[in-house]
Amino acid sequence: MTEALTRLYPDHLKTVAKRFDMALAAAGFDAIAVFAGSPHTLFLDDMDYPFRVNPHFKNWLPLCQAHDSFVAYVPGHKPVLVYYQPEDYWYLPPAAPAGYWTGYFDIRIIKRPEDAPGALPVARRCVFLGEWQDRFKNWGFADVNPESLLNTLNYTRAVKTEYELECMRIASALGAKGHQAAEQAFRAGASEFEIHTSFCAATGQTDNQLPYSAIIALNEHASTLHYQNWDLSKPDHRHAFLIDAGTQVNGYASDITRTYSAKPDEFQELIYALDQVQQQLAKKAQPETDFKALHAEAHHGIAQLLHDFEFVKLPAEDIVTSGISCTFLPHGLGHLLGLQTHDVGGSMASPRGDTIPKPAGHPFLRMTRVLKENFVVTIEPGLYFIDSLLDKLRQDKNAGQVNWPKLAEFRKYGGIRIEDNVAVKSGKPENLTRDAFKQA
Ligand code: GLY
Ligand code: MN
Ligand code: MN
Repeated sequence: MTEALTRLYPDHLKTVAKRFDMALAAAGFDAIAVFAGSPHTLFLDDMDYPFRVNPHFKNWLPLCQAHDSFVAYVPGHKPVLVYYQPEDYWYLPPAAPAGYWTGYFDIRIIKRPEDAPGALPVARRCVFLGEWQDRFKNWGFADVNPESLLNTLNYTRAVKTEYELECMRIASALGAKGHQAAEQAFRAGASEFEIHTSFCAATGQTDNQLPYSAIIALNEHASTLHYQNWDLSKPDHRHAFLIDAGTQVNGYASDITRTYSAKPDEFQELIYALDQVQQQLAKKAQPETDFKALHAEAHHGIAQLLHDFEFVKLPAEDIVTSGISCTFLPHGLGHLLGLQTHDVGGSMASPRGDTIPKPAGHPFLRMTRVLKENFVVTIEPGLYFIDSLLDKLRQDKNAGQVNWPKLAEFRKYGGIRIEDNVAVKSGKPENLTRDAFKQA
């Protein structure tokens, strides 16, 4: 693992620097200070929320816990890491910099946050990038998070470097390991909380280290798309299990969903059929594929299942045009993935900040761009039995075409989502998730 990252990191750093060169030129600045961020304190308290680092900071180097540090960069010069390492006996200070990346930075240790300005290139026209605080206002920054700078960075980072792809392969492998442990725990009769614990134990990551809080849903809980509880009690009956959970490696995420039936029943057949639809879609993650068109194709696939499994007594085409497929698939097919789970830039038309609108009737589609080589996207079609949406469908003029008794029977399963992370390649996209499960 370290060997490949050591080999790939220098080129990654060159690409990042080149993108920052472009962004600084577009915005008209000579230098940049990328702030990692500071912990946020709870209201009326002296405790902090879990710290989440600025994604633009961890784009430079694999430091996710280095709060109050900066990456300072002047085009053509070695980047500087202004590393906050306090003497502290209340909290464990960040460790001394170590690893394959350190030789590429001029590292300046500071013991107090207020010592940072002395190490920042504020004598030039230096722009600030990150979460702004009032205490910075006399530090000499020329501007704060200008749109033109952010647009270039957010647009260009959709294309992953070989180093980033390798980090995401490792995050996928770790995720697959966690998923296997979670399935075993489900089969053994564990509660949601116990399943969550087994995922964390198998991946070696605490909940705060994961890229997003794991979704561990038994039975009808799967009908809440981002179900956030981990029920401590075990359900009386065990019908189905949906797990949407990933890991984070050097700041890069995996985002994986699998759904299981407790028995070899018709729900299991539906999972299998949706899996086929999902794999067909994943194969189309190729350069020049319009993601909006792929999202539309997902609706046709889901509509065909609704027809074939006799949930709706209409041809698939009509299930889509009538809008009924949106009752069962009310989210987007996928999104960009990388430094963030829902990586920004999914609707950008160019580095200038113009956007590609979402298709009418599909407000939750996060990705409207045409795919390019080495984008990483999720492909995550789903089919859910959501009470509130079914209640609306009951009022629809097509309600008579819906097989309500069968839907009532399937309510207990909650729903299905199958989600892979796919690196866009011509010919054969690289399905990071399927590869990881094969190797696990
Ligand atoms: N885990 C959140 C998502 O799949 O988008
Ligand atoms: Mn997910
Ligand atoms: Mn996702």
